[in-house]
Amino acid sequence: MRFLVTAGPTREAIDDVRFISNRSTGRMGFAVAEVLARSHDVTLVSGPVALAPLAGVEFVAIENARDMLREMLARFGDCDGVIMTAAVADYRPRRVRRGKIRKSDGMLTLQLVRNPDVLAELGRRKRHQVLIGFALETAADAIASARGKIIAKGLDAIVVNSPDTFGAVRTTGSILLPDGGAREFGPITKIALAGRLERLAVALVTKRRKEDAK
Ligand code: CTP
Repeated sequence: MRFLVTAGPTREAIDDVRFISNRSTGRMGFAVAEVLARSHDVTLVSGPVALAPLAGVEFVAIENARDMLREMLARFGDCDGVIMTAAVADYRPRRVRRGKIRKSDGMLTLQLVRNPDVLAELGRRKRHQVLIGFALETAADAIASARGKIIAKGLDAIVVNSPDTFGAVRTTGSILLPDGGAREFGPITKIALAGRLERLAVALVTKRRKEDAK
């Protein structure tokens, strides 16, 4: 099978030296790519991270959300599944200043515009592909919010976890399915979660192929 995996943060430029980003380290996506690559073709599309390259994985480095969308759309047609662990920035500065913004005495206001939602775009275009998303939830309504994302983005499963997972070796959360099913996990290592996601992704692709063959 062929899988596309995303990892890491995106960086959204403010000027030539500054950017907006988030605390994602890329560890979850790298774990998923590492496990999948033991038995599948894997392309890893990743924002800037400080992790060693993975043997046997095609690596595509991107910087911002629009780069990620472009690289994913270029490869989406002939993949069987996508596992989207990247922490894509929802907003970017409205304009990128040339050079370096100089300080002045007053306040500085940055205007932000919405970035594309990569996973939702893939959801709109999907035919046979299986889509697994991640949801970082901080509020009490974590499960309901993640279920909303399954529908809004056309997903086959979503992994819900909390921000303490950033940079951590172990993770705790739930895998939610569109039929209402939920499987809790953790605390388990990211490699162990990646193993679970591999089994789930293979089962979903196999099921989709059988349905399409009918
Ligand atoms: N995602 C994406 N593009 C974005 C934002 C998110 O592809 N611009 C993907 C993430 O990679 C993740 C899933 O969508 O797999 C859910 O991300 P999350 O940040 O939890 O949700 P949002 O849709 O951004 O919703 P909100 O931040 O409002 O909770």
